[in-house]
Amino acid sequence: MPETTAVPLLEVTGLHVSISGREVLRGIDLTIHAGETHVLLGPNGSGKTTLLSTLVGLPGYDVTSGSVTFKDADLLAMSVDKRARAGIGLAFQRPPAVRGVRLRQVMEVAAGGSIDATRVDTIAEELDVAAMLERDVNLGFSGGEAKRSEMAQLLAQEPELALIDEPESGVDLDNIAVVGGAIAHLLKGDLASERPRAGLIVTHTGHILQFVNADVGHVLFDGRLACEGNPLDLIDDIVSHGYEKCVECALCRP
Ligand SMILES: Nc1ncnc2c1ncn2[C@@H]1O[C@H](COP(=O)(O)OP(=O)(O)OP(=O)(O)O)[C@@H](O)[C@H]1O
Ligand SMILES: [Mg+2]
Repeated sequence: MPETTAVPLLEVTGLHVSISGREVLRGIDLTIHAGETHVLLGPNGSGKTTLLSTLVGLPGYDVTSGSVTFKDADLLAMSVDKRARAGIGLAFQRPPAVRGVRLRQVMEVAAGGSIDATRVDTIAEELDVAAMLERDVNLGFSGGEAKRSEMAQLLAQEPELALIDEPESGVDLDNIAVVGGAIAHLLKGDLASERPRAGLIVTHTGHILQFVNADVGHVLFDGRLACEGNPLDLIDDIVSHGYEKCVECALCRP
């Protein structure tokens, strides 16, 4: 983790979250500073999407205790749209389709209404979604098209903290390069101190990390962030030993 004394961009402390009365997150502590790119690993069903959904304020995620500050403000007290305006953006694992709302309109709204048509077209070219701009967002989009659509929306929004949920899942190798290029564009720069935006990227395979300079990885296990380290080293450990052994490793549990 880069050494810094600056006020964190995001600070999650002791976060407990339940869904339909079942506790999924059981004490998450996470600090992200401006410019840092973090990677979130963890087995299926461990709560990665739950954490991201809670941070953006989607309904159905009940925070039973803990706190979250974003730029020193109480994030949990803000509505979904206020969080987006404050600078938090989400690229969904499974992007929802919205009938009657075109991708171009979503990109315009995501940009806070301050984007011109040329910029929308430029982003659409970069993400190869130009042909989908006038279609209902995500309706009938293939898996890869929906992921590219998500990234186009995020590039339009340019959030200070981009939460990106499994950007490479269901995406072919050529398109992983397109999506990876867009994330690299958003989170550009080799050093965290030079980057304008921060990211939290969920991945199982780490393929996306060929394109992105990630600073630190975390393993979500048993409702908590059980382990922290170099993201590529963590993925190697998980591939070699499995999640259970990985989070028992002496480096994380001295
Ligand atoms: N709306 C819901 N109703 C009931 N349970 C839910 C709901 N949403 C999520 N859960 C449960 O919460 C747990 C965590 O789910 P979550 O989607 O956060 O996992 P994940 O770590 O993102 O998994 P994956 O790697 O498969 O995407 C799962 O057991 C899931 O079934
Ligand atoms: Mg998930």
